Amino acid sequence: MRVVHLTDLHVQTRPQLGELFGKRLLGTANLYLLGRRAKFDPAAQRAAVQTALELEPDLVIITGDLTAQGTVSEFAAARELLDPLLSRVSCAILPGNHDLYCEDAKVEDRMGQTFGEWMGPKRRLPYLVQHGEVAVLAIETCHPHLLSSGRVPPGELQAAVGMLAGLPSPRPFVFLALHYPLRNRDGAPYGPATRALDNAGAVEDFLLATTKVDAVLHGHEHHGFRTELPTAAGPIPVLDPGASGYAFLPDQDRTAHLNCYEVDARGLHEVKRYRFDGRQFLAEPGGAYATGR
Ligand SMILES: [Fe+2]
Repeated sequence: MRVVHLTDLHVQTRPQLGELFGKRLLGTANLYLLGRRAKFDPAAQRAAVQTALELEPDLVIITGDLTAQGTVSEFAAARELLDPLLSRVSCAILPGNHDLYCEDAKVEDRMGQTFGEWMGPKRRLPYLVQHGEVAVLAIETCHPHLLSSGRVPPGELQAAVGMLAGLPSPRPFVFLALHYPLRNRDGAPYGPATRALDNAGAVEDFLLATTKVDAVLHGHEHHGFRTELPTAAGPIPVLDPGASGYAFLPDQDRTAHLNCYEVDARGLHEVKRYRFDGRQFLAEPGGAYATGR
């Protein structure tokens, strides 16, 4: 099976005056006055969706931050951007911290209202969905927070253990999908703490105790990287493509990326990474992560 992994598209629209409070007021100043807006590009976002379609995947996994500030109009724009994929390909989606930017996004369940159809049978996390020989276990790591730290809610990992116990035998290949990294690119715990998962150790303990997770997919860190984590069945790959909506900024050696996995119940056979050259996504020279960017 072929699985495409997108993350951190950060679809952005100018917020309404009534939406400018708390963190979003600071975030808007950051985006529009300090130039962070230019880091994300609608051309890259459209090309990422187009490339995902052209790869003819059996499944697309999106590991959060579909929007920049979790507003109603951003969710509508993200839905419109992704519609060609959502209407043609099986998708598994989870929110990122930017999709729960302020309390209003959570209270109105904008994520579930917009993308619930691709968030498991209960239209919320945690969920475990199986697509042929592959399953996606998605856990919540995000909540509205003035800084950008995340937290796995109480009960989430116990629920995940129960879901894994219900898998058929022989079981499918299982991707654990979450928004936050657990480790940095050098293998040390992910930081700084203001941008990290408060209880990343609990997720690592969950992995150490299971034989039923075969790879971890995440986003959040816009400069992608690959690491490994131990499980009860041995080390497994941990993959972040890097932000799929990032602008092509050759002077900073930064651009958008997406991943493509060839996988079946026996294992993950190939990882390909594609990078945006300002017009289109092309396979990373030298193989996935070979450029170090
Ligand atoms: Fe994020």
